[in-house]
Amino acid sequence: MCYADRSGQFAATTEERPIVSEGRRAKAVAGATGPDPAVSDQGGDTAKHHHDLLALSRVSAAISGLHDLDAILRIGLDNVLNIMNGTVGGIMLLDETSQMLFYRVHHGLSDKYVEEMRIRPGEGIAGKVVQSNRSVLLEDISSDPDAARVDLVTLEGLKAFISVPLRAKDNVLGVMNVASHTPHRFTKDDVNLLHSIGDQLGIAIEQALLNERLRKARERMRKLARQNLVAEEEERRRIARELHDETSQALSGIALQLEALIEVSTASGNQDAEFIAGLKKVQSLTVQVHREVSRIISNLHPALLDTLGLVAAVRQYAKSRLQPQDINVTVDVKGTEMRLPPDVEAALFRVVQGLIGNIAEHSKAKNASILLVYKPDELMLSVSDDGQGFDIYQVTDVEESGRGRGLFSIRERVGFLGGTSRVESKIGAGTTAWASIPIGQDIGYGKDPDTGN
Ligand SMILES: Nc1ncnc2c1ncn2[C@@H]1O[C@H](COP(=O)(O)OP(=O)(O)OP(=O)(O)O)[C@@H](O)[C@H]1O
Ligand SMILES: [Mg+2]
Repeated sequence: MCYADRSGQFAATTEERPIVSEGRRAKAVAGATGPDPAVSDQGGDTAKHHHDLLALSRVSAAISGLHDLDAILRIGLDNVLNIMNGTVGGIMLLDETSQMLFYRVHHGLSDKYVEEMRIRPGEGIAGKVVQSNRSVLLEDISSDPDAARVDLVTLEGLKAFISVPLRAKDNVLGVMNVASHTPHRFTKDDVNLLHSIGDQLGIAIEQALLNERLRKARERMRKLARQNLVAEEEERRRIARELHDETSQALSGIALQLEALIEVSTASGNQDAEFIAGLKKVQSLTVQVHREVSRIISNLHPALLDTLGLVAAVRQYAKSRLQPQDINVTVDVKGTEMRLPPDVEAALFRVVQGLIGNIAEHSKAKNASILLVYKPDELMLSVSDDGQGFDIYQVTDVEESGRGRGLFSIRERVGFLGGTSRVESKIGAGTTAWASIPIGQDIGYGKDPDTGN
């Protein structure tokens, strides 16, 4: 067996089985690192150098701009086989969790071979390449004592074999194997070329693995955020229900009892005026607290949302929030309102609630208008005001103070519903926010549009 590191230094692991002579070794070094003035065949080396550069740039061009790992591996392997006139090969990657090497793409290998050839670093030829970070060139892998699963190798009829590390910096990510059904098929020049291509592929693979990890982390975050929103909504609903069933009922009972007591006391004429005035005060306080609790319940989860739906709940909330501030508000509906799944209606209500809250808190508007347009497959809503407006480019992130959180969560909620949202504002001329979500049959609300998860 013969190992070569990136500098072209081949190292025989078993001295008695070197497969290239010293003279040919020098030529292999030149092939990998550029023309060597010590080598006499200048014309031949230049042609070889040219060929290798072309091959490298071909692989580089083929994988450049690709972000998908499988596409990079597939196209990388196809190009390598093409360059080497080979028909058998594959790329094995080291799985981070299991720490096993397995074939991610392959060509000319049987399903059984690919399925069963799973090895640890240090095991077999590929495992040794990963561990030593050195390439291996074999005349005949089926008779090599280091080969893993010789049964599979023999069954597959593999003979000449090259395995090169795929690495990014010092990190070995896997190996690229090229094999042949005939012995003595490859040269050290082939190994050197493959080694260079492996380095190039390694960087692209690392980039793609990072992208894949980032995409998965983002997906996890999205899922978590979505679950948080759903859990928050459920918790609000539960607290609202409990406040309604227990506290609110008790308060209205107390208020009624007090009213009856006042009536009886007044009618009997036995109680003094001070006592009756005191009762009236307690009764009016109870009514006030009851009203406040009802307001809190409605904020937590408006009962109208469950009974009459989104439009009624929006109408009630807009009036109760804006009219006390002398902001005139209209709520219009185009098309026929249709009931949507409770989670969707709740999410849309929160969106409108956030926008109405912004009008109440920041706009200094005189008028506000809300429009809901129901189409067969889309619900579009807009919320506008004629207030002071703001510079939307100054609200690009969630600040420490919490400023920006409202608009951010509106965008997220609409995104979870598979929709899009947009805000436009002009200083002195008011603000309008739009949101549009798909409705109708078979909508996988809350699923990632890219992955469907
Ligand atoms: N309709 C509006 N009119 C004027 N300014 C607005 C309007 N809507 C938003 N803004 C501005 O955009 C900022 C960000 O709004 P956002 O809803 O994201 O956060 P917030 O309202 O400050 O905090 P939160 O919504 O968490 O209570 C607001 O602080 C305000 O300056
Ligand atoms: Mg806000």
